[in-house]
Amino acid sequence: MKNWEEEYKNSELLWGLNPNSTLTQYAELVPAGGKVLDIGIGEGRNAFFFAQKGFSVEGIDLSETAIERCSALSKKHHLDVVAKVADITTFDIEPNHYSFIILSNVLNFFPEEEIAPIIDKVKKGLVKDGLVYVNAFDINEPSRKKAIDKYKRLGRNSFFDATNNMFLHYFTKDEFEGLFPTYRTIKTGHSYAMDLSHGEPHYHSTLELLAQKQ
Ligand SMILES: C[S@@+](CC[C@H](N)C(=O)[O-])C[C@H]1O[C@@H](n2cnc3c(N)ncnc32)[C@H](O)[C@@H]1O
Repeated sequence: MKNWEEEYKNSELLWGLNPNSTLTQYAELVPAGGKVLDIGIGEGRNAFFFAQKGFSVEGIDLSETAIERCSALSKKHHLDVVAKVADITTFDIEPNHYSFIILSNVLNFFPEEEIAPIIDKVKKGLVKDGLVYVNAFDINEPSRKKAIDKYKRLGRNSFFDATNNMFLHYFTKDEFEGLFPTYRTIKTGHSYAMDLSHGEPHYHSTLELLAQKQ
């Protein structure tokens, strides 16, 4: 069965090393000395950026290969990144602990009913004035058409890809922007853009939110 683990095994470095550009643009808003949690850290491209800025970074991911790769790279470059294999649906985020929590290209891959409990944990894990970054595919994402044709439909925008054992949920704009209703918005955005970072060039339709706990 093809899954995240297999995706990583079939590639030397699946997502490259360039950090997300919104994270680089607003990094100075994260209070110095704060702790960063990267959920679905992958091979660590965003975590490395914050570790290079002097933050102490923790990350979790389902994929052993991703975590091994992330740990080897952080060791090689002497970066303060502690990465471990864990599933965010069962992982306990330490309450009131993190200055920044990152969910980069992760939140699409859950059944719809698991999203709110993840967001609740994130909210509890942030310190006051802490930041959260989320980006995720919206309903205009090209792969949604494929999902409609090929995958089991669980809801209007939710699917299960049995071959890859993967859930897919595509966000509406209102749904996405309602994830952190009481937070101060620092940036919201939508992009429809060609992705050159991995595989053949392809398009993604992505929403993003950077927000601050009040
Ligand atoms: C598209 S990749 C993004 C990786 C990284 N955040 C980045 O932006 O480079 C999605 C990641 O989420 C991880 N993931 C998916 N479901 C997860 C879960 N339940 N708990 C932890 N990580 C998960 C996958 O293993 C994969 O590494």
